[in-house]
Amino acid sequence: MCGIVGYIGPRDATPIILNGLKRLEYRGYDSAGLAVLENGHIAVRRDAGKLARLSALVEESPVHGHVGIGHTRWATHGEPSARNAHPHLGMTGDVVVVHNGIVENFLELREELSAEGVVFNSDTDTEVIVHLIERCLSRETGLAEAARCALSRLRGAHGVVTFSSKEPDKIVAARIGNAGGVVVGLGDGEMFLASDMPAILEHTRSVVFLESRQMAVVTREGVEIKTLEGDAVAYQVQSVAWDPIAAEKGEYRHFMQKEIHEQVRSLTDTIGGRVDFEDGRIHLPELNLTPEKARRTRKLFIIACGTAAHAGMVGKVLIEHIARVPVEVDIASEFRYRDPIIDEDSVVLAISQSGETADTLAAMEEARSKGATVWSIVNVIGSQAMRIANGYISMQTGPEIGVASTKAYTAPLVDLYMLAVLLADLRGGIDERTRRRLVNDLRLVPDLAGRCLDREADVEKVARFLLNVSHCLYLGRGINMPSAYEGALKLKEISYIHAEGYPAGEMKHGPIALIDRDMPVIVIAPRDPWYEKMLSQIEQAKARGGIVIALATDGDELIPGIADHVIWLPETPWMLSPVTAVIPLQMLAYHIAALRGLDVDQPRNLAKSVTVE
Ligand code: F6R
Repeated sequence: MCGIVGYIGPRDATPIILNGLKRLEYRGYDSAGLAVLENGHIAVRRDAGKLARLSALVEESPVHGHVGIGHTRWATHGEPSARNAHPHLGMTGDVVVVHNGIVENFLELREELSAEGVVFNSDTDTEVIVHLIERCLSRETGLAEAARCALSRLRGAHGVVTFSSKEPDKIVAARIGNAGGVVVGLGDGEMFLASDMPAILEHTRSVVFLESRQMAVVTREGVEIKTLEGDAVAYQVQSVAWDPIAAEKGEYRHFMQKEIHEQVRSLTDTIGGRVDFEDGRIHLPELNLTPEKARRTRKLFIIACGTAAHAGMVGKVLIEHIARVPVEVDIASEFRYRDPIIDEDSVVLAISQSGETADTLAAMEEARSKGATVWSIVNVIGSQAMRIANGYISMQTGPEIGVASTKAYTAPLVDLYMLAVLLADLRGGIDERTRRRLVNDLRLVPDLAGRCLDREADVEKVARFLLNVSHCLYLGRGINMPSAYEGALKLKEISYIHAEGYPAGEMKHGPIALIDRDMPVIVIAPRDPWYEKMLSQIEQAKARGGIVIALATDGDELIPGIADHVIWLPETPWMLSPVTAVIPLQMLAYHIAALRGLDVDQPRNLAKSVTVE
């Protein structure tokens, strides 16, 4: 959840760390801090609040040096405050630590250390790490060994970065489990460290990812990696192609708005290179899917969290309809604890924007241990979910900075559609005409997305109408039932308006009791196979005095007669309609939150990568 940056080299570490943290602020943003080695001593600056507070603090009280680490926090143990912000110093002031993860046995360790006379200066679990390192330092030889000794005491999953004023030539970093990656960026006579690549991309494209239970000793000249057991690791340097400019806000007020508008491009890239329109065929080479494997696949499990899980629900309809393979969709945090029935003829497909979501990674591991083939659809290149899968589909959306996911929702919808067609083709379960029609429909997607975006002003008018409501009900059915879930999630997470997504047919079994003039109902009713059922849903809501905002297809003559407001959708093949239905819902949530003056990109209590369980 938290963001980590480190630097060692000839340049001033402070601006490099602050800049890196800026690119990671989406990961956690309730407090931030940095530690720099200045004239032989570790100087720490940290404060609660956003990164701007830390920058102001550094301006008031500058700090310069050639070795440093920084952190942006998403609180787990201890409220967001200056004393709980990272970095944390040990009692001597010679060792400093930043950390991402949860020390599960921290109470026990804290008691043990307190009994030995250690005085704690924060309420965090992280602080035990620095004290453990100091304790090991008195017995072991050097920081790296001491860190290894300290880490062996921790339960849970962690990314840890530390340095010592007594060994100014190095930074030590380690990763245990899936609490967040640690990536080392290789420069020329300088080295960078980060929890995520955007923090260091402006400096280098050559990176090394630490695997679980690996530790890196990073000096100006290079990096040495060993396992926590002390065995040398022959690592691979990877070259990364992301463009840091793509991560700037440009003309938009918020990243979320920019990312909503980027969907024409991201959907074009999603299709590009994967679709052979001549042949009417799909190519997803990184999936490593052979005709034999496709035929042997008896069941698919889609595992994901939040928005990614909603994409998975659309995927279920697509894969079952097109490829006739049974699909179960599981919330990743449930899947891993429910002892699912999977075997080597099952495929478990994880969907994750960050590729670092702890629940999703743990579910992938559970699947692997049971012999299933594991695939992922993932955005962040080189992330854990990409690396541990047997095959993957890369989302091609570029960095998503806004905490509320938008372009990383529509890209997997198209990926799942392509996967369904590919599976059907390889299993011999689709006739050529149908396959060509489905493939051809993909051509329409970017333009349809663009036509939704062109109607932003109309959506904004509806946003003004809904500005002061306290509750909203979103209804959808069939392939657009997940669109209702996703629309509601977008609204609640950035505007703090209570919103529920519901399968429209379930309304009469309870939620209809909620409908009155104060409970606007957003009905997703494009011309898909569930259209007529949705019409009666609108009637039912109206009959109970509800205010209905309907999403309807251009040219629909019935809906304007019954709904209070209509948001128009371009005519879309029904299996791709979740793409066009969600774009106005994203814009609606965005404009409501922006009009309410809220922090759209960094809503309260949330973080972009959820690397804790
Ligand atoms: C909502 C949102 C979250 C994420 C969820 C999974 O807008 O962004 O619900 O979808 O935390 O994250 P990833 O896709 O990174 O695994």
